[in-house]
Amino acid sequence: MSDKVTLEFNGNKYDFPIVEGTEKEQAIDIKTLRSATGLTTIDPGYKNTGSCESAITFLDGEKGILRYRGYSIEELAEKADFLEVAYLLIFGELPNTDQLAKFHADIKKESHVDEEMKKILDGFPKSAHPMGVLSSLTSALIAFNPSSVNVTSENDMYHAIVRILAKFPVLVAWTLRKKKGLPLDYGDDSLGYVENIHKMMFKRPSEDYKSNKIVIDALDKLLILHADHEQNCSTSTVRIVGSSHAGLFASLSAGISALWGPLHGGANQAVLEMLEAIEADGGDTKKYMAKAKDKNDPFRLMGFGHRVYKNFDPRAKIIKVAADEVLNDLGIDDPILDIAKGLEKEALEDPYFVDRKLYPNVDFYSGIIYRALGIPTEMFTVMFALGRLPGWIAQWREMRLNNEPIGRPRQVYVGENHRFFVEVNKR
Ligand code: SDX
Repeated sequence: MSDKVTLEFNGNKYDFPIVEGTEKEQAIDIKTLRSATGLTTIDPGYKNTGSCESAITFLDGEKGILRYRGYSIEELAEKADFLEVAYLLIFGELPNTDQLAKFHADIKKESHVDEEMKKILDGFPKSAHPMGVLSSLTSALIAFNPSSVNVTSENDMYHAIVRILAKFPVLVAWTLRKKKGLPLDYGDDSLGYVENIHKMMFKRPSEDYKSNKIVIDALDKLLILHADHEQNCSTSTVRIVGSSHAGLFASLSAGISALWGPLHGGANQAVLEMLEAIEADGGDTKKYMAKAKDKNDPFRLMGFGHRVYKNFDPRAKIIKVAADEVLNDLGIDDPILDIAKGLEKEALEDPYFVDRKLYPNVDFYSGIIYRALGIPTEMFTVMFALGRLPGWIAQWREMRLNNEPIGRPRQVYVGENHRFFVEVNKR
């Protein structure tokens, strides 16, 4: 196996080392490319370019493999809970009983959000998209937690981490309750982490909170499935913002904005809206398939395709099975699920999708479960952000602990060559 590549340019030969990861992935190390050759590279969307070496998440797009710190997503979704997975992603090992209990206790200590934050939330109209509200509130948290900004020691990082893991779910719940005109209150420290999130989101003012194991387990599994996904758009955003030594909360706020886009996390909302449009159209999936294949039509089959997976997204497989189970357990018969399954079957038999290796991704079925859990469509991407929070934190922490340089890509300039200023009356 070769341990280098040789580039020939202008009659010279240049060797560049091959870096090999623990799963035998290989990359050309071009750290010295410009100083040695004067050349840079260009790769729109970074489709062929690695930004870092990371020990957090491994995925194999051809084989449909996803592992967090070496554990398969199938095992974690089945056997772990979300708080355990958060600890695993951030600190690298599954916690023992004492470690998990201390982690949860440290989080509970930080679950208060300054009441002044409600004034910021009040400034938003009810029509505001929850992702915009959440990104703003996450950034606003900085003002109330200044010690979480310039964190350089692991100890300071730990405190910033438990603080945001405690306060972010409160902001998510407040964002939802503001839209519904419900009072903004806190959770209950006697509950589990995810159960408490569900209570904060859905407890009605005049009723006692009644926990539903099916709902809590489904939510816990969905959050695990969204927890990390190596260098996706929003995670890369968190890392590059953090690389300037902006604080954790500022980096997360930027990541939330990146996730909002319909080509990324915003797809789960777009999928539901697409399925509802097909239902309103009498279930005419063929019309939407034709639109998705028409190069002159910007419409895409939302929830299909992926930059890395050229096989089934393993998360989509798990969520599809869970959707059947949850709707069955809750006694819900949702025609949208049948439309989704019909669309998937058609696409997987259509040469356009087969040739381009376009399969359902994590966003295709997740909204059907969120809807069954009573989560409004506009909040779907917020739920994605809630799940992705520990992954963003883990990636930000790894980038800072590795002392990675500030992210600053190069470019190829294609604008005007040098020219001289002309007075306005002579133009
Ligand atoms: C997430 O990166 C991650 O890990 C993200 C994520 C995570 O966990 O963080 O997995 C979460 O963002 C999942 C993806 C959610 N987005 C959607 O479902 C939106 C619909 N999907 C597409 O927009 C698209 O597939 C992307 C954005 C997901 C991937 O785009 P790429 O890798 O840039 O691929 P491409 O646009 O170059 O597409 C290749 C071809 C093109 O056709 P040709 O020019 O070759 O003829 O496939 C076509 C595209 O037009 N295509 C689609 C399509 N997706 C790709 N055609 C119709 N419908 C689609 N959904």
